[in-house]
Amino acid sequence: MLLTEDAMLPPRAPDPAFRRDIIEGLSRHPKATPPIWFYDRRGSELFEAITDLPEYYPTRTETALLERHGPDFAAAVGAGRAVVEFGAGSSRKTPHLLRAVDPAAYVPIDISGDFLRAASAELASAFPGLPVLPVVGDFNGPLTLPAAIDGLPRLGFFPGSTIGNMEPDAAVDLLRAMHRLLGEGSMLLIGMDRIKDRDRLIAAYDDAAGVTAAFNLNLIRRINRELEGDLPLDGFVHRAVWNDDKARIEMHLEAVRPLHFHVAGQCFRMERGETIHTESSHKYGARDERLLLRAGGWEPLREWSDGDGLFSLILAGT
Ligand code: AVJ
Repeated sequence: MLLTEDAMLPPRAPDPAFRRDIIEGLSRHPKATPPIWFYDRRGSELFEAITDLPEYYPTRTETALLERHGPDFAAAVGAGRAVVEFGAGSSRKTPHLLRAVDPAAYVPIDISGDFLRAASAELASAFPGLPVLPVVGDFNGPLTLPAAIDGLPRLGFFPGSTIGNMEPDAAVDLLRAMHRLLGEGSMLLIGMDRIKDRDRLIAAYDDAAGVTAAFNLNLIRRINRELEGDLPLDGFVHRAVWNDDKARIEMHLEAVRPLHFHVAGQCFRMERGETIHTESSHKYGARDERLLLRAGGWEPLREWSDGDGLFSLILAGT
């Protein structure tokens, strides 16, 4: 694994949205911050490393499903659609889908322009003749699709169980926004992580090598670097807990002693044992998946899962 030390990069202007989210999140009781801020350069590299961990089953399970069921996708989706991918972080998964459904265009949407350009260039060279039309933007906000795909039927692609990072109300809002953006007659292929044995879930978010702990703790380094923070790195430990009532893994940063620190000129205190809730990763039962999709305006059509029922890919229509 190649790890970039962001501290060695030239300082960047603080992102006002990052600052607002962190100040707001640390002022809340209990403290909670949005998971999108994990993904600075080092955080993205650590996430890549997570996807290779023996304990972290979702990425390899979903990739195997995409690899194995190409002929099914071809039959259910048909050729000539514009594939619109929400988040372009899945360059290892996307080629399997594109090969199967023979699309007329590929539109990756990502908030990180650098990342998007790199991923798009890679795909364009692997699929000569396929128009690759990247869109830089936040798919949680309003977006416009390239005019070049006007009139083409669409297939949305939302892998990785990224939907699981959202609270149910936000997940429904996003599914509805996708429906609005893609239009009537479109389809959506979405990855959803399943409820399973608790120990297996916890191990996936608290691996033996400590990569997920480093990923979680990297948020503290980022706050210190970008928001003039002085949070003690040794004052926090990584915690992964299964919230059975809400069917989700929660990641927390737990204070190991009473703490007093500053962020962007503001003072914060934490008691020993108090946590910052940094991520929720919702898991779904078979009916939960379909209920969520229907609540978001999508009708489930077909579903593919591995033999152990770890992860599902669901195809839905409007
Ligand atoms: C962003 C949804 C793919 O929740 O499993 C991995 C992020 N966090 N390990 C997930 C994550 C800790 C991941 N996804």
